[in-house]
Amino acid sequence: MELSGSKILITGGSSGIGKAIALMAIGKGAEVLITGRDGAKLEKVAREIGASFVHADVSKESDIQKTFDWVKENWKNHLDVLINNAGHGYRKKMEDVEWQDFENVFQINVYGAALMAKYATQIFKVANKGNIVNIASTAALKGYAGGTVYSASKFALRGMTQCWQAELRPFNIRVILINPSEVTTAFAQKDRIERPEAAHKLSSKEIAHATLSSLEMDNRGFVPELTIWATNTF
Ligand SMILES: NC(=O)c1ccc[n+]([C@@H]2O[C@H](COP(=O)([O-])OP(=O)(O)OC[C@H]3O[C@@H](n4cnc5c(N)ncnc54)[C@H](OP(=O)(O)O)[C@@H]3O)[C@@H](O)[C@H]2O)c1
Repeated sequence: MELSGSKILITGGSSGIGKAIALMAIGKGAEVLITGRDGAKLEKVAREIGASFVHADVSKESDIQKTFDWVKENWKNHLDVLINNAGHGYRKKMEDVEWQDFENVFQINVYGAALMAKYATQIFKVANKGNIVNIASTAALKGYAGGTVYSASKFALRGMTQCWQAELRPFNIRVILINPSEVTTAFAQKDRIERPEAAHKLSSKEIAHATLSSLEMDNRGFVPELTIWATNTF
């Protein structure tokens, strides 16, 4: 697809990977709408990078509806790409896991992503084209100590991606799963402050590049799943 002139909705676009994708897409001439929970941070970042914004939490269906109301009103229901990027997670020992941990993480990484995709699909089916990108993780491919809740949520996102690929491919809707390895963002940081770039770790830019390159491929093809590793992790 041609990114220039396209309309892209990114959940969680106010920091880290979502912000980097937004910035790179705007640089390529796309119109971008970002969402997030911290309204002040969201507005500041949106103004900085030239994106539109809707203050919305993907774990609330009313906020998801509010986001798509914005798309209807401002973009006349024209949407080319949904990027399900907002995500939450933390490590917890198996014996300490509580019911609420699953609620906290699945509401964002699984239920929110699915409902965002549902509303986007309603638009894409009318247009007979569209793109959904799910930002999962290498935790969607392999479990690890302390990963019961987060890894389960990303395995679920990967499973849903495969379901949507089967269901939506006949409607020219491409569904792409991106699995980043560790990226130096504010993710899982208690203070929510972005970590400085490190030579041996991925930055958000590599994930933005992988995501947008996958989208830029001509619509006759699509990348079902892409995993990104750091070259020098040791
Ligand atoms: N960093 C890594 O090592 C890594 C590796 C693999 C995969 N990932 C995945 O990459 C995605 C982005 O993570 P990141 O590293 O860029 O993290 P980040 O820097 O913490 O950014 C997360 C973004 O999502 C927003 N967000 C969080 N919960 C939200 C919600 N319920 N509704 C709407 N927005 C929400 C945050 O803003 P607010 O807090 O203001 O809402 C922020 O803009 C996540 O899905 C994560 O699982 C990250």
